[in-house]
Amino acid sequence: MKNLATILIRVEDTIRTALARLDRAGWTILLLVDEDGVLLRTVTDGDLRRLLLANRDLESTLDQLEEQHPRTVSRGASTDLVLRLMNRCQVDQVPEVDEDGRPVDLHLRREIDQPVLLSPPHLADEERKFVEQAFATNWIAPVGPNIDAFETEIAATVGMRSAAALSSGTAAIHLGLKLLGVGPGDRVFCSSLTFVATVNPIRYLDAEPVFIDSEPGTWNMSPAALARALEAADRSGNLPRAVVPVGLYGQSPDMEPILELCDRYGIPVLEDAAESLGATYRGRAAGTFGRLGIYSFNGNKIITTSGGGMLVGDDESLIERARFLATQARTPAGHYEHDEVGFNYRMSNILAGIGRGQLQVLGDRVERRRRIFERYRSGLEDVEAIRWMPEPAGHRSTRWLTAATIDPNATDRDLRGIVDSLADAGIEARRIWKPMHRQPVFAGAGYWPHHPRESVSDRLFETGLCLPSGSGMTEQQQDRVVRRVRERLAAPIRTWRSATLSLG
Ligand SMILES: Cc1ncc(COP(=O)(O)O)c(C=O)c1O
Repeated sequence: MKNLATILIRVEDTIRTALARLDRAGWTILLLVDEDGVLLRTVTDGDLRRLLLANRDLESTLDQLEEQHPRTVSRGASTDLVLRLMNRCQVDQVPEVDEDGRPVDLHLRREIDQPVLLSPPHLADEERKFVEQAFATNWIAPVGPNIDAFETEIAATVGMRSAAALSSGTAAIHLGLKLLGVGPGDRVFCSSLTFVATVNPIRYLDAEPVFIDSEPGTWNMSPAALARALEAADRSGNLPRAVVPVGLYGQSPDMEPILELCDRYGIPVLEDAAESLGATYRGRAAGTFGRLGIYSFNGNKIITTSGGGMLVGDDESLIERARFLATQARTPAGHYEHDEVGFNYRMSNILAGIGRGQLQVLGDRVERRRRIFERYRSGLEDVEAIRWMPEPAGHRSTRWLTAATIDPNATDRDLRGIVDSLADAGIEARRIWKPMHRQPVFAGAGYWPHHPRESVSDRLFETGLCLPSGSGMTEQQQDRVVRRVRERLAAPIRTWRSATLSLG
């Protein structure tokens, strides 16, 4: 809600005062109120200009304005209603008034109909400097000082010895799995609740994914499901070549029990921290717990290079080999010599420049996203149907995306309707990832639920959504989201429905 004090004006004020106030407030409207604060009419700079053209001078008072019935909405009006009124009356601002007619808020068209995106890029000041240096020195190639520096800076930020800058997070997973020895016919255990990019590289290597459910505490890989999957694999002599836990929506998995299990069976871990750069688990950076970890700098991530990824690890020879494979496996001869098949997976020096600038503001971006989460949480505190993604003790999430579930017992609004209704208001929300064990492309792959009769990722998919969380969002945009979610969810419950759960 806006502070309206700066745009309230009284009939005894002069045109000069009104113009000065408009100038200071930065809005194009004033609210003329009586001695009880009741709204009499709105005043635009056009109204003031018309008075001057009608031979009033700057010292004339506002009682010279014609009477006008103000177009207002009452407290709590829906965004749709406000927008309809704006369109019908061809105005761009509509005051909201309380029961006595006193203004309590002002709706601005630009805040209502400009799209609010889920997680757009948020540039800082320094990217341009690094990119311009690359141009000035003609380092436009997938080699150059920004790449070396970006790798060193990321490694230092997360506390790993070494890092390889690559063309995408997907490329980093592909190379990482290859470096862990994954090949045709091997099995790889990975989180089911994730973006498909975690799994596709398993298939690139002609290996077979086996999906592990989430646990309710972190929404990430369930140690209980992993334990049962590993026991069974051990019994049948078919242990996986690697385990890939994913840190969803800015939060690390519960890595300690996962690592304990993997160590017990001697299975290496590749941590997919594409979404959780900047998060910590027990004080250490997410992405640094496995033998290898990956980050993504896709345009929607907490920091971006427009597209890019990073493979990190403590074993410098592994990372050096990743760089080699990423540059077409070209051996250091005086000519083009290749002993094995490589990839064109290196990041460009230009994009690494963007990454260096972005990395400088990572801490700020984490704080901003956490604040956005808090604003949503407090703004929707009283909406019973919402349950926020938990952040267990020992975890510090970045809240890359504010994620929540909608309790189907507490509302009769279905998830799709909510997402569609937000879209109608120009707000981009998304459902939680559809688990990989339910994707047609992986039909027939193994799946281990959290408990034999409880699939957490299925429930999260059926009930979960992500709200816009870009670190550049204004408070007004967040309030617009809050208002719209509230409109959809605070409506009276008409039916009682029980939660449905399906094991995929
Ligand atoms: C969990 C997860 N893994 C992997 C990726 C792949 O990263 P990229 O888009 O950089 O290839 C993404 C995001 O895009 C992701 O969200």
